[in-house]
Amino acid sequence: MQALSCAAGAHPALPRRLWACGAPPPGATPSFSLPRRLVSARFTKLQALSCAPPAQLARPFVPEVEAAADSLHSEFRAVDNLVAHNTTRVLRAFQNARVGSHHFGGSTGYGHDEGAGREALDKVFAEIVGAESAIVRSQFFSGTHAITCALFAFLRPGDELLAVAGAPYDTLEEVIGIRNPFGNGSLRDFGVEYRQVHLAEDGSLDWDALSGSLRPQTKCALIQRSCGYSWRRSLSVAEIERAIRMIKMQNPDCLVMVDNCYGEFVETVEPPSVGADLIAGSLIKNPGGTIAPCGGYVAGRKRWVEAAAARLSAPGLGIDCGSTPGGVMRAFFQGLFLAPQMVGEAVKGSLLIAEVMSSRGFKVQPAPRVPRHDTVQAVQLGDRERLLAFCEAVQRSGPVGSFIKPVAGSTAGYASEVIFAHGTFIDGSTSELSCDGPLRDPFAVFCQGGTHWTQWALVLGEVLNSI
Ligand SMILES: Cc1ncc(COP(=O)(O)O)c(C=O)c1O
Repeated sequence: MQALSCAAGAHPALPRRLWACGAPPPGATPSFSLPRRLVSARFTKLQALSCAPPAQLARPFVPEVEAAADSLHSEFRAVDNLVAHNTTRVLRAFQNARVGSHHFGGSTGYGHDEGAGREALDKVFAEIVGAESAIVRSQFFSGTHAITCALFAFLRPGDELLAVAGAPYDTLEEVIGIRNPFGNGSLRDFGVEYRQVHLAEDGSLDWDALSGSLRPQTKCALIQRSCGYSWRRSLSVAEIERAIRMIKMQNPDCLVMVDNCYGEFVETVEPPSVGADLIAGSLIKNPGGTIAPCGGYVAGRKRWVEAAAARLSAPGLGIDCGSTPGGVMRAFFQGLFLAPQMVGEAVKGSLLIAEVMSSRGFKVQPAPRVPRHDTVQAVQLGDRERLLAFCEAVQRSGPVGSFIKPVAGSTAGYASEVIFAHGTFIDGSTSELSCDGPLRDPFAVFCQGGTHWTQWALVLGEVLNSI
């Protein structure tokens, strides 16, 4: 309606809004022709609509947050460009795979009678991440499970796994056998050795150490793209590419696996495009677009995706089995389509958190206004009480379980006590707005997700009041 009134009233001397509130200025002619009766009826209606004094909405955010949001205008615009690039890539993949509503039907039982949805989803996903092949399934419990399947695809007794970006994420300690190594089916339990290249002092990759780090038995190099619960920089895809080159120069047969959790769609290319043999991640993080209710993925070279699939199911079953009910298949497709946009909002949220919290004197990682490589924003809070208060404020501000007080406790897979604030529609879906952190020095909170940056802006008001 408003747009139509402007088109009808294009007149260089008067602001459009003014003209919409009154009679057309003398000499102005509507730029389209409607029957006279209709034109005057339309103007009368518009007058009634737009002459009411503009409602003055109260400023929605506390002044500190309002100022930070105002100052981030150009950064937010750059994020919109990123979203547009990634949405273009996603749309092209949907169109190339000829995705149709017949793909949303899902299946039951063995999942043999599936209607090609699973195949289309795998194809779309593989194209988006620049991989030969992908397996996207509800049967992956979590990111940890998908990463585990990928590692077990590569590694056999006597091999060595080398983590090149320092200590891996907490839940991988038991998978690798850094903690509780024997008797639980960890890699160590199966005779796979482990080493890590420590990070450089500034928290980036130690390139010198990496350049001479491989041994003949090093079969797989693990690169963790996002920071996890470490106070470190997340890796750009360009840095991942450089690391892969260094690894393959030392031994072209060493396979590279990238833990891609929280990295998807933060840049315009994904690690398989720069040489990663496999990537793995969770659908209740970035690529599920906040609506996939469960699941994970492994993508990369076909042979190794098949090996990961055999670990997920059973050798010989291949990738064409495993049922997923219809509603879930539709959510996977739709979530993947929405993912670039949701990631964009999460990135804007992280820019805002960095701006506000650093102006309050807290150390933040990444620093304000630097390019992002994941959707995580860490803030060093310095002590246990402040970390708890931050998480309580976030939980209080959520749409689900706002009445719950989160408490720190032990969680399967984590050695440290951890606190989680996830007032989310899908249990633990950190790509909806969430924050969490281990109760250990430097008592950092790790914030992520958010379906719109304004949600973080509102939550930050509550946080600032509480810490
Ligand atoms: C970098 C990284 N890798 C792996 C994981 C494990 O993912 P999940 O919690 O889905 O098992 C996480 C979780 O936050 C993570 O941050």
